[in-house]
Amino acid sequence: MNTEQMIKKFIEKYGEGNHSHRVFNAPGRVNLIGEHLDYNGGYVLPAALEFGTTLVIRERDDQQISFASTNMPYEVTLTMEEVFSGKSGEWTDYPIGVIQELDKVGSKLTKGYDLLYHGDIPNGAGLSSSASIEVVTAFALLSMEGREIDTVEIAKLSQRAENLFVGVNSGIMDQFAVANGRKDHAILLMCDTLEYELVPFETGAYKIVIANTNKRRGLVDSKYNERRSECDQALELLQKEMPSLQYLAQLTTEQFAALQNSISDETVRRRAQHVVEENQRVLDSVEVLKNNDLETFGKYMNQSHDSLRYLYEVTGNELDVMVEEFQRHAGTLGARMTGAGFGGCTVALVHEDHIEKVMKEVAQQYEARTGLRPDFYVCGVGQGVHEIKGAL
Ligand code: GLA
Repeated sequence: MNTEQMIKKFIEKYGEGNHSHRVFNAPGRVNLIGEHLDYNGGYVLPAALEFGTTLVIRERDDQQISFASTNMPYEVTLTMEEVFSGKSGEWTDYPIGVIQELDKVGSKLTKGYDLLYHGDIPNGAGLSSSASIEVVTAFALLSMEGREIDTVEIAKLSQRAENLFVGVNSGIMDQFAVANGRKDHAILLMCDTLEYELVPFETGAYKIVIANTNKRRGLVDSKYNERRSECDQALELLQKEMPSLQYLAQLTTEQFAALQNSISDETVRRRAQHVVEENQRVLDSVEVLKNNDLETFGKYMNQSHDSLRYLYEVTGNELDVMVEEFQRHAGTLGARMTGAGFGGCTVALVHEDHIEKVMKEVAQQYEARTGLRPDFYVCGVGQGVHEIKGAL
């Protein structure tokens, strides 16, 4: 749906009104490498997508807030008091959580608003549709209220909305990428300090191909929390040997090799090994990307997947089959799962001359081996949250 069509829908829903509307967009994200590192204080390398969530917003004459979406049936109009009551379990929990967090940092809403969302990101596919809703809401409301915009603060408060109100214990990566992405760049983010660097991600004849396994991600939250607590256990044991250690990802591979025997549980040890080695892979990736060496980067992507499969154990049959089928092709430089895992999407770098053939053959083989039909998105790196200016 383009901006013009969205505005038409907005007026159909909310009428002509006395104020002018504004239009905002926040992308989804794909993580190129550095998985399950954000909550371990490590480096990640995500990038914003070219598709995401668009929001049309307009001031109201009363103090109520209306939420509606073109692609989700639930809609509601709330008074300010109702916005501060409990969760509904609906998609509106994301923007409502954001309004509550804005309030806590002193950005109380002074007016009522009508909001209409449109999402291009498949829900539950691990491409951060929820972070995209949160970030576009925060950015739009701060803009409407004429307040200062700080996209790092927007990422932090959106993460808090997700952790505290929605109740999902995610790290900072998704909201950060959605808020701070830059066209044709990946973001090297240090998740402990939130220092970041935009790394040119010019892939020339190679394209990012995202494949959705369409596997339902039933256990993702509980398994995600299980991994977080295994990492906490590893950290606690290692801190006995090295009291200055604050996060697992602070360890070099050499330090980890020397200390790893202090973790007697083999599963917990392997989780920590993934974290330490994946962190080094992110730094190595940035080096090779700066030299435009996509081939070596592709190898790191493959190694990352193996580590998530065998050490961190967050892949599962569908993600493994998808990655194997991509890796089989000469036109693919590398492929890996992206996001939390347990279903969701893979990301691959594929030569443009091979894309059609690769997608056709991967789809056939994937369906034959899993009984599921995949979806593919061939995309470039998009822009972080922004206003669409000049929208009529
Ligand atoms: C999910 C979380 C992120 C991050 C990834 C794994 O996407 O929301 O914070 O932990 O999983 O890298």
